[in-house]
Amino acid sequence: MICAALLAGGIGSRLNQGKPKQFVDINNKPILIHSVETFLNVDDLDKIIVSSPKEYIDKTESLMDEYFLNYDRIVVIEGGETRNDTILNSINYMKNQNCENDSILVTHDASRIFVSEKLIEDSIKYAIEVGAASAVIPATDVIFESKEDGKLTDVPLRKYLCHAQTPQSFNIDKFLEIYEDLSDEEIAKLDEAMVLFHLRDVEVKLFKGNQNNFKITRPFDIVLAEAMFK
Ligand code: CTP
Repeated sequence: MICAALLAGGIGSRLNQGKPKQFVDINNKPILIHSVETFLNVDDLDKIIVSSPKEYIDKTESLMDEYFLNYDRIVVIEGGETRNDTILNSINYMKNQNCENDSILVTHDASRIFVSEKLIEDSIKYAIEVGAASAVIPATDVIFESKEDGKLTDVPLRKYLCHAQTPQSFNIDKFLEIYEDLSDEEIAKLDEAMVLFHLRDVEVKLFKGNQNNFKITRPFDIVLAEAMFK
């Protein structure tokens, strides 16, 4: 089984639009709908698991009804308290469907609306080959480490740095095997799936993402996204 988890369980506090960012319109269509549309074009995906904050599940389901007439490949589930909890809820959904061993989950931030079918397909291919894979783009700025407020503590070499994007895809049995071995302290560090693999030195394939595939996070990103449609 190959499923996608379209992560939309957050509230978008940094975007600050008075509603969760997945419901904000870009080019006259909610952010969430843009992402679902691209995922529906990938035939390899058995299900698209759309998460939602608990109090917005009805709204999310109504949107799916409104935009996708026959949506038997889409399922709406409750998100978790953290992004990682939302990923876990998506894995649990797959397990409850009695998915076969070595099933693959493609996780994607619903707010990266310019994701392409190619990026999704690449992430599936590498997750099957290697076990875990993430889209990345090279860092353009030098990145300073600052462990103390206002103080430079390290300057990692830019040529070794890249920005993580999604899709991030992985074998769910490998994920669960490592997750069950983690301490509470390590679990607290998980803000994205690839950290879990890294904590146990398990190979993660990094493949070429796309500059367009940015995450709508702050108000300026709305201006940028609207401009891209024009
Ligand atoms: N996400 C999620 N479940 C959570 C938190 C976040 O599924 N408990 C999702 C968001 O909906 C988003 C993606 O993870 O699509 C990336 O997270 P982020 O950009 O931080 O989104 P928000 O948490 O919504 O934004 P903010 O941090 O500004 O509140």
